[in-house]
Amino acid sequence: MNKTWWKEAVVYQIYWRSFFDSNGDGYGDLQGVLSKLDYIKSLGIDVIWLNPFYKSPDRDNGYDISDYYGIMEKAGDMETFERLVEAIHERKMKVIMDLVVNHTSDQHPWFVESRSSHDHPKRDWFIWKDPKLGAEPNNWRSYFAPSSWEFDEGTNQYYFHSFAVEQPDLNWKNPELRQEIYKMMRFWLNKGIDGFRMDVINLLAKIDDFPDAENPYDISYLANNPGIHKYLQEMNEEVLQHYDVMTVGEIPFVSPEEGLLYVDETRGELNTLFHFQVADEMLEWDMKRFKSIQTSWYQGLKQKGWNSQFLNNHDHTRQVTRYGNDGEYREESAKLLATMIHTLPGTPYIFQGEEIGMTGVRFASIDDYNDIAMRNKYHEEVNKGRDPKEVFEGLLLLSRDNSRTPMQWNGNKEAGFTTDKPWIKVNPNYQEINVEKALDDLDSVFYYYKKLISLRKDNEVMVYGDYQDLSLNEENLYVYTRTFKEVTWLIVLNHSDEKQMFIFPEEYRNKSKRKIISNYKSENELEDECLMLLPHEALIFEYK
Ligand code: GLC
Repeated sequence: MNKTWWKEAVVYQIYWRSFFDSNGDGYGDLQGVLSKLDYIKSLGIDVIWLNPFYKSPDRDNGYDISDYYGIMEKAGDMETFERLVEAIHERKMKVIMDLVVNHTSDQHPWFVESRSSHDHPKRDWFIWKDPKLGAEPNNWRSYFAPSSWEFDEGTNQYYFHSFAVEQPDLNWKNPELRQEIYKMMRFWLNKGIDGFRMDVINLLAKIDDFPDAENPYDISYLANNPGIHKYLQEMNEEVLQHYDVMTVGEIPFVSPEEGLLYVDETRGELNTLFHFQVADEMLEWDMKRFKSIQTSWYQGLKQKGWNSQFLNNHDHTRQVTRYGNDGEYREESAKLLATMIHTLPGTPYIFQGEEIGMTGVRFASIDDYNDIAMRNKYHEEVNKGRDPKEVFEGLLLLSRDNSRTPMQWNGNKEAGFTTDKPWIKVNPNYQEINVEKALDDLDSVFYYYKKLISLRKDNEVMVYGDYQDLSLNEENLYVYTRTFKEVTWLIVLNHSDEKQMFIFPEEYRNKSKRKIISNYKSENELEDECLMLLPHEALIFEYK
């Protein structure tokens, strides 16, 4: 398998609006990111992924774009962006941007023109259909709405939207539209960015005749439709292959077999992907299932394509809250999950604040929430006559706002994020969990991440090692090896609140080994046959 910088990299995701507010308007901004680059660099980060900051009415926090060439006022301006790119490069880091080309905002001039009349040349840049028997053209739901169709009174047709009503889908069948997108990608690449995180990129192609779905709630009909690989290959030929960049596709609803089609190095589409068999499809931690997902993806992509590792991002509740322990063992749990993500095959992603073990939130009322997905779902269910309190409770754990609360910099008002009222409330635990505290404590989650990241730089086994699960049937223990040339790492994780006995597999018994890292201060003796693991204990041993 070829060695490349993006396989060796650790990526840090910045949800800029919640990162640092430099001008006191309650929103984070690009200048705020710039002012914190030394912090990010000090962690050892190689690549920064910035969530979208294009011009946008901001109904879906920047994923509804009204001008692909402009910068949202809240975020800053082009000059600041250019300075930011330069400052990132000066620090020997790279930066990738979100590319959102499945849909635009309904305020985008392309859509405004498209909806203006049936025969406007841009009519075909979006997806328009006549009503079927006076109603929606089919029964499909969208991610954020009960139907994926919205009626336009002016022209008596429906337009298609995979997300909110305010996010009409582009029609990728139209070659002119595709060229316009490629032009826009070149514009940003020529500004020196190092790649793209591609928003729901496997949704670009639609099923031609839009047949009714048997189960409209299973919205996988939105993804992986015929034509998608042709578009991505064309995008690669026209744009990507002319630059030394990385691409990571957000690819919901894929199996490893299908996933390989997107990232197979011989096919010229994408470099890597985020699949959602964990974050979307595994609601609660399920160790056996997680292991089988890891094994099947490893086998499926082996020697051919590259994976990504993450457990949370701006759409998914913080990992210690959702999959770990955010109470008594918060720090141990945060370190264990980090050990796992950084030693499984694929490029690891850190979502801002994860490196200090930030947790999810439970605000008191729906009015405290901003997430359009949650709010729309809340209103849909309440309108059906369900008890509002029950609906609200049911939405709390997975609300996307769990991860969107401001970065906790210190114990001051608003966690040092802003001097104004933040656009979304700060997590009330900021006095206990914040960057300043983490930096003052050499045993903090922060320094553990820093160590893991620096290990990746010095140990190819962590990047390129073969993977083998030695614990398929264990409920709480996850034990696996990575092997590269003559080096083997044995990773031992006790993902539970109880002590667990770990017996070394036969071939690792009574053999000399070196402890690479552990998340407990207390020295767990280097026993040769078995270990009593503490709750959420994580260990890596090296054998040569
Ligand atoms: C992706 C983004 C999410 C957004 C959606 C629509 O899933 O990560 O935040 O709402 O696409 O663009």
